[in-house]
Amino acid sequence: MRHGLPLAMLSGYKKVLSFDFFMNPTQEIKDRLRIEDLVGQYVQLKKVGRSLKGLCPFHAEKTPSFIVSPERQIAYCFGCNKGGDIFSFIQEVEGIDFPDALKMLAEKTGIELEEYKSDRPKVTGDAKQQLFKVYEAAADFFERQLKDSEEGKKVMDYLHRRGLTDESIFKFRVGFSPDSFDATYTYLLKKGFTKSQLVSCGIAMTKETTVDKIYDRFRGRLMFPIRDNLGRIVAFGGRALKKDQDPKYVNSSESPIYHKSNVLYGFSDAKAAIKEKKEVIIAEGYFDVIAAHQVGAVNTVAPCGTALAASQLRLLNPFADTVILAFDNDIAGQEAANRAYELAQEFDMSVRMLVIPDGKDPADYVRDHGGGFNDLVKNAKPYAEFFYTRLFDVYGMDGIAAKKKILQEFLPFFGYMKSSIEKDEYVRRLALDLDLKEVKIYDEIKNYKLPDYHPARSHGSIDTSGGNNYVAKTPAEEIFLGLLIEFPRIGKLFLEKVDENYFSDDLKAIYKALVDQYNIDGFEAVKVVISDLPHEIREKAALISFYVSEKYGEISEMDTEKELKILTAGMSRKWLDQKKRDLQKRLYEAEKLQDKVLCDQLIKELNRLNTGVV
Ligand code: CTP
Ligand code: MN
Repeated sequence: MRHGLPLAMLSGYKKVLSFDFFMNPTQEIKDRLRIEDLVGQYVQLKKVGRSLKGLCPFHAEKTPSFIVSPERQIAYCFGCNKGGDIFSFIQEVEGIDFPDALKMLAEKTGIELEEYKSDRPKVTGDAKQQLFKVYEAAADFFERQLKDSEEGKKVMDYLHRRGLTDESIFKFRVGFSPDSFDATYTYLLKKGFTKSQLVSCGIAMTKETTVDKIYDRFRGRLMFPIRDNLGRIVAFGGRALKKDQDPKYVNSSESPIYHKSNVLYGFSDAKAAIKEKKEVIIAEGYFDVIAAHQVGAVNTVAPCGTALAASQLRLLNPFADTVILAFDNDIAGQEAANRAYELAQEFDMSVRMLVIPDGKDPADYVRDHGGGFNDLVKNAKPYAEFFYTRLFDVYGMDGIAAKKKILQEFLPFFGYMKSSIEKDEYVRRLALDLDLKEVKIYDEIKNYKLPDYHPARSHGSIDTSGGNNYVAKTPAEEIFLGLLIEFPRIGKLFLEKVDENYFSDDLKAIYKALVDQYNIDGFEAVKVVISDLPHEIREKAALISFYVSEKYGEISEMDTEKELKILTAGMSRKWLDQKKRDLQKRLYEAEKLQDKVLCDQLIKELNRLNTGVV
């Protein structure tokens, strides 16, 4: 049987494997699903030596630095330092958490999860399941209100007038929340949900002053259910239906199952098409998404009542090369488009702008022109091109002030252009259109400084917090342990030279496992000791040993020893510094309290540290 655990390159050593025969689902799934097969569904992989290589789905790159090791069942990007096993990969690429990743892969591999207990604490698993149920029941209630109530029929007429078909309304489960203070709340209570569940998921609200008074968040509104990446309803957007109804939209607040910036409206329905076309259409509103889907543009999504976030683009990046912006043709829409364009540069996605005639939004256009919307998609222009034309429309071509403005506003685009051919082309055009010398424009480009807030400045600072085990950096401590796993014979000489306090908690567990192992069999036989550790720690150990094996390759024993010496010295220095800082802080506190005895003691300790006698 093949195991997903990392085996160090142990040529010359006897391998004694101590497999953990108490099977847990993560291990069982790993045994059935090879990482190269899973990753291969998202990334085009090419065999290079013992590994497979491809373009990293998590950051923009032209030369592949994403490596999949069939031997170790690990995928790691040497460009952005992200990596992990099949679970981390699926979490990152699908934008889901560990429990959902477990479920998804269990389904893929035909493993029943009920038989097992997860080896990660199930923190909020059950509570979350309940919230999904609340939302499902609420969506059902709103749908029926739309179809069956008198008020609802009027709303249905409104939807038809806006151009939506019954089929679309059904597909997106559009609904209606009755104009009552507690109809929804009372209904859901009767269904067996508790007051606190209904409040915590934001369907019901309390006023701080009168805690026992509970009322519905959504009253007399058109309801758009928002689904997470796996298609479960996790929130609602509620649109006003009357002129004086303020605000225009009431959206669900964030909850344990809803994080706005990780969700895109329509995504679960659009994903297959996005993957197939390698293109995603991003609109601004719920209506726009539904309308676009209605005429076959089923690769359309929208953020939910927020500006497009980097985390949302990251979600799309593995599936799409091109982003087509279908934003409103107004100033706000233009600003949102600019920002989206800048963000997309971080992911190396091309951006096109879909221009809607007569200042309409996509939903209006579909209502009036139906499938004509698809022609707009086809004719979407590269963003720089669109912006260039627009600048001349806005400022005209006369006068120094206009010229200056146009040049100034177009300059940032040069920073984003990937090819010098494209750059030269635009310089030529600007020179011609603005009647300037080309050298002058090249000068301006050279002197142009990005404003402070500019995303291109903070390259790589995109929020990637997925809450999983992806290693963000490889500090000395990790490389040290990786070398110990990979080169146990030399490594064992260094085990005693370090203190367990050098390591953070997860690394400490790996370190201790190595010490235990050494005490048991002195490394004569190398066991996969880490198999007893929790999944995330095993994964970490696999990652760091893989990292080391790739980075160091066929390093000699002498060089390994040298490297370990340097790392050990660095770690001990860092640890001493930290200790000194702690002591100084305590000394400062003691002085403030005028605790003479403690002061003396701390000073002594500090002196001992400074003279190197620990
Ligand atoms: N939005 C919001 N809160 C508001 C206004 C807008 O959350 N007060 C969000 C909604 O997600 C909305 C999107 O921004 O779908 C686009 O806004 P807008 O164009 O004003 O609304 P539409 O849904 O397009 O509605 P309509 O076309 O009927 O004006
Ligand atoms: Mn609109």
